[in-house]
Amino acid sequence: MNYKDNIYHFRQDSSFLYYSGIDRPNLFLVIDVGANIEILFGNDLTIEETVWTGPQESLTISAEKSGITTVQPSSFAEATIKNALQQKRVIHFLPTYRAVTTKKLSHWLGISPYSLAEKASAILSKAIVAQRSYKTNEELVEIEKAVDITTAMHLKAIQIARPGMAEYEIAGQVEGVAITNGGHLAFPTILTVNGQYLHNHAGSSILQKGQLVLCDSGAETNMHYAGDMTRTFPVSKTFTTQQKEIYNIVLQAEEAAIATLKPGTLFRDSHLVVCKKILMGLKSLGLVKGDLDEATAAGVHTLFFQCGLGHMMGMDLHDMENIGEEYVGYTNTLKKSTEFGLKSLRLGKELEEEFVLTVEPGIYFIPELIDQWQAEKKYSEFINYDKVQTYRNFGGIRIEEDFLITKDAYKLLGKPLAKKAENIESLRNY
Ligand code: GLY
Repeated sequence: MNYKDNIYHFRQDSSFLYYSGIDRPNLFLVIDVGANIEILFGNDLTIEETVWTGPQESLTISAEKSGITTVQPSSFAEATIKNALQQKRVIHFLPTYRAVTTKKLSHWLGISPYSLAEKASAILSKAIVAQRSYKTNEELVEIEKAVDITTAMHLKAIQIARPGMAEYEIAGQVEGVAITNGGHLAFPTILTVNGQYLHNHAGSSILQKGQLVLCDSGAETNMHYAGDMTRTFPVSKTFTTQQKEIYNIVLQAEEAAIATLKPGTLFRDSHLVVCKKILMGLKSLGLVKGDLDEATAAGVHTLFFQCGLGHMMGMDLHDMENIGEEYVGYTNTLKKSTEFGLKSLRLGKELEEEFVLTVEPGIYFIPELIDQWQAEKKYSEFINYDKVQTYRNFGGIRIEEDFLITKDAYKLLGKPLAKKAENIESLRNY
């Protein structure tokens, strides 16, 4: 794989794709707002390249299809940028995240690669976020397609997993569903019997009866819109009583979050509703104690729910976060917290009609975190550590679905997939 002619899987930049519709590498697009023209810089394949890859649509045709006025060779890009700089024109560009783009832009603009990110255009970033946040009907069709494939991926995992299988055997078949449906993965598959670690990617652990499998996976369509779901199911045919108790707390927390989804809701409040709901459930099992409003405000729940409730989703799984989480999930007045837990909440701002987002609460018993907090006696007025220690090998449970915010409330995206414990068990009927 580390040989220059074995080309890595190319994934077009989502903003580039959104505005141009052109899904191929080595292109630059200049939108000259003053002159009202667009210039696509790139090269058609040479005959030698065609020998290896086969023919490709000419850039002129691709440009015509997307309404781009002008196509020029790649080598002209530098002069165009330098010319604009000489004329003291303002050049807006997005933050870069690929080394090769950073290197080129840095050279063309005469800005050190180390300060390119801070010089990226806030005006352009905000303008793009303002457009891409509101999903059109055409986009929703694609997103639902992605979520339906994602549902099929999860169904596959729930139906094929058996004691004695390795995690990768299941992950491979789950990923096959995305690929055989003409798309790709929206992100690297998380399929693990160690679901307490939030993003523990598919490994080689062997499934054993009594364990839980957490599968967080998603497809992207060939137009690169994403789906993102999580289900947690028992390796045995049924959940144990203890697993079902925790599962039901997560499910109730998810339902409480869903009930808040509507325009005007501050998603940070939805997150906090879930945090309290999780503490309520854990209090009923004797793991926590005391006043739950105080406990939530203090962040006691972060022993069990260390991440955020959800994120925007679209052409990127974490939609537009490469442009800046501060624009996508927060506002000029609502800033992201730096506290453990809340700092992982990618979306905090008010929900609006046409937003698409995930809701993904979970409970995670991370032995290393439990031990550290207990040693520090952290929040010992709220946490019954002796009881929590009896769950140290429990693992983790997450339930995740994707939603569109509608005029009055929300719409679940994709075909519904079982999520009540009993319904999951019915699917595990081997
Ligand atoms: N579901 C994976 C992620 O949100 O990063």
